[in-house]
Amino acid sequence: MKAENNCIVIFGASGDLTHRKLIPALYNLYKIGRLTENFSVLGVARSELNDETFREKMRQALIKHEKANGDMLEKFCSHLYYQAVNTSDARDYGKLVPRIDELHDKYQTCGNTLYYMSTPPSLYGVIPECLAAHGLNTEEYGWKRIIVEKPFGYDLKTAHALDIQIHRFFEEHQIYRIDHYLGKETVQNLLVLRFSNGLFEPLWNRNYIEYVEITGAESIGVEDRGGYYDGSGAMRDMFQNHLLQVLAMVAMEPPAIINANSMRDEVAKVLHCLHPLTQEDLKNNLVLGQYVKAEINGETVAGYLQEKGVPEDSNTETYMALRCEIDNWRWAGVPFYVRTGKRLPVRVTEVVIHFKTTPHPVFSKSAPENKLIIRIQPDEGISMRFGLKKPGAGFESKEVSMDFRYADLASPSLLTAYERLLLDAMKGDATLFARTDAVHACWKFVQPILDYKAERGRVYEYEAGTWGPTEADKLIAKAGRVWRKPSGAMKKKV
Ligand code: BG6
Repeated sequence: MKAENNCIVIFGASGDLTHRKLIPALYNLYKIGRLTENFSVLGVARSELNDETFREKMRQALIKHEKANGDMLEKFCSHLYYQAVNTSDARDYGKLVPRIDELHDKYQTCGNTLYYMSTPPSLYGVIPECLAAHGLNTEEYGWKRIIVEKPFGYDLKTAHALDIQIHRFFEEHQIYRIDHYLGKETVQNLLVLRFSNGLFEPLWNRNYIEYVEITGAESIGVEDRGGYYDGSGAMRDMFQNHLLQVLAMVAMEPPAIINANSMRDEVAKVLHCLHPLTQEDLKNNLVLGQYVKAEINGETVAGYLQEKGVPEDSNTETYMALRCEIDNWRWAGVPFYVRTGKRLPVRVTEVVIHFKTTPHPVFSKSAPENKLIIRIQPDEGISMRFGLKKPGAGFESKEVSMDFRYADLASPSLLTAYERLLLDAMKGDATLFARTDAVHACWKFVQPILDYKAERGRVYEYEAGTWGPTEADKLIAKAGRVWRKPSGAMKKKV
């Protein structure tokens, strides 16, 4: 299905996200025919650019990131416009009114407007208010939707305050909180795997599952984002949003139908069931780490404290591992081990469902574990591990794997996360956007971790290029388990 005709207004148009992700996503949607000719993009920022200079910047970005060229590139760029606005001054937003009207007339976009806040978070409360001051939020003539980038707040209190601020001018059905993990094909595939097969769901509970591992590992460090990252850390940057959303997809109940409300009802429900963490839980079940300088493949890699923009005495965590539980009928007593970190050995995001072993190992002393590995990225796919007979005499079993890779599909043509989510927002489908109650539930769960860290959380060192501090191994070893150490690619077929 194509996007509805609309004008996309990007605040923060001179920023990194616009030329690295948003414009390339829109270009690709245009290229594959998912945008009609009736669309325009109005870039807004403080910089004194004009339509031509903005187009030229975006053209260069598309050539660089998408290898774009020829007629398609020129046709796409002709839909781009720019308006300089002092985004902190409500009066200056008046300049947008004639620009947006003119674009609606020219492209016959019936007043439909999608605002994208790709700005520093300090403007998330300001922009809706300034738009409203000029009547740019009302839906009398066409729909008005607003996309909010993460972070939705800095902690429980600020998230709540931000929500109130935005809700003063936009109703919940107009607000699209983007978490790009929900736009990833394999995160959505978790739902299809679970709810379109009779095979897995009967086993998907405390009776058959021993524990669940969720890993969001990155091999890169904080690069040139030290200034931002230091105020955020792994907990706010990855855990509070992306990984808790993945956890919700693994753990939620089947929605009656797939639509924005019933899906998001189930997501919120399961997030509300996360077992609240006490100080004692955190003492035993949380490990924080920070990478230090090391040699990787003969090259010296800087430690976090040497990164640009990071204070030399920073205590910010670049790694975290947590054991948590979900207090509901399906999951009571099943540990979820979640970890994320920068400068780990590989970039990999995966979920591992560890099934219980057979009650009595008939064929060998230790029966092979049954695991389902859901690889979110890279090398997206699913791998099932189980025991088979070792060839030869006797009845010994060994672990083998059955693998499915997206790359093996005849025409995988996956939309990237931003392509998918922008398209959904332009179609008015909020299924894959975070709803206010889910965001609130995530912050409610995370707040005690933030408090604990601020008061007494120790941050352990780990060498860049390793799997985090040894304390994290001890955390999982308490139950006689070890973290899976995934490689960059899924195992080859057997
Ligand atoms: C972003 C974080 O939201 O997600 C980054 O701010 C992180 O620090 C990124 O690197 C990870 O996204 P992906 O899609 O590369 O896994």
